[in-house]
Amino acid sequence: MVEEAQSAPLPGAKRRRPGGRVSLETLEGSSHPPARLSTGIGELDRALGGGIVPGSAMLIGGDPGIGKSTLMLQMAANVARGGPDVIYLSGEESSDQIRLRAGRIGLQDAGVEVVTATNVTDVIATLEAERRPAVLVIDSIQTVYVGELDQPPGTVTQLRTAAHELVRYAKRRGVALFLIGHVTKEGQIAGPRLLEHMVDTVLYFEGERGHQFRILRAVKNRFGPANEIGVFEMREAGLHPVSNPSALFLSDREEGIAGAAVFAGMEGTRPVLVEIQALVSPTAFGTPRRAAVGWDSARLAMILAVLESRCGLVIGGRDVYLNVAGGLKIQEPAADLAVALALASSVSGRALPMASVVFGEIGLAGEIRSVSHTDVRLKEAAKLGFARAILPMGEVHGEPSLNLKTQRKLRDCLDALGLDAAMDETV
Ligand code: TYD
Ligand code: MG
Repeated sequence: MVEEAQSAPLPGAKRRRPGGRVSLETLEGSSHPPARLSTGIGELDRALGGGIVPGSAMLIGGDPGIGKSTLMLQMAANVARGGPDVIYLSGEESSDQIRLRAGRIGLQDAGVEVVTATNVTDVIATLEAERRPAVLVIDSIQTVYVGELDQPPGTVTQLRTAAHELVRYAKRRGVALFLIGHVTKEGQIAGPRLLEHMVDTVLYFEGERGHQFRILRAVKNRFGPANEIGVFEMREAGLHPVSNPSALFLSDREEGIAGAAVFAGMEGTRPVLVEIQALVSPTAFGTPRRAAVGWDSARLAMILAVLESRCGLVIGGRDVYLNVAGGLKIQEPAADLAVALALASSVSGRALPMASVVFGEIGLAGEIRSVSHTDVRLKEAAKLGFARAILPMGEVHGEPSLNLKTQRKLRDCLDALGLDAAMDETV
């Protein structure tokens, strides 16, 4: 619990002001789509919906150490190289540290200017008097503060007020503003979620610590589609955009192994193929374990229940582990069928047919439901050399190089693949 004192009311706030007049407009007439400024990083432009909209405010959230500062420095350098003024405010690292990082990635000569002050009021006053940058990066919103408030940086009130002041400045002057926010661990109060409603675009940088892949996901975008992702790889010299994520996610895959299914997924408007791995093994002792990495565990429980009560698979007393290879987090229900087949394949000890992709949603009655973007998913699978697709019944404009197996019921689907319960009681 942290006590936060209420700031004194503004003088005269008690007195009621007589209402002013506001203007009303219609939606007719034309407005131009905003001109965009490319960041020079294809994957970042994609996540932003096509580049930076001048005067917009963007929030980049993520765990500490995931690569937010690196990405923003690379973006800043790329933009600055093309001419526009870019200012990078760092409240976390000294200018020496930033110089060192820029040197390591080879960006020292790009002309980005660095500020290490953390008083927002001073920074805005300085910019108002001297400069109007095209892009301003605040690294991070948790380290800056508004001097008039009697509270340390990082508290809820400071976070809100500082963000509010910065966003107002950015809108007033047409400056594109990037706010970096650490997703805080339990125990700390103020995180970037508090700021989501104040900005135009919210991007989260995700990834497993042990993996080099990083996924930048747009969870809100007033100027473009949400749910769009950008994929990066963290290398020695900074972040590298990955323009063909499917090839990357499938790179270490082996064919013919029981307990694996390739899911033809969609991330925003982009198809992404990933391998879903399942392991169903005897419980060592006590309650069986259920663990899912990269997939919702409530959804896993549901699929297990459907496999047991609609398809007669016996899983009850065994441990179940589910993993989405490569560190991607899948949110689509379209992955249900791939999850179910990976589980059934692990239980039966039989692999899925070679070179097949799978997608489809599963309902509680054990029915396989159709999902959106069938053609895009199939096209991606064909492009990556897959030969078969297992998918829901429905209208399909086939991909000529793919052998399509449409299914209506999960039970029949397992049967057709030889993964049904009867064959195995020994594992
Ligand atoms: P950083 O951008 O500082 O993360 P954040 O701002 O989100 O806290 O990235 C830190 C990690 O990235 C650090 O563990 C080192 C690694 N890294 C590389 O692997 N290669 C690089 O070129 C750079 C700059 C960082
Ligand atoms: Mg940082």
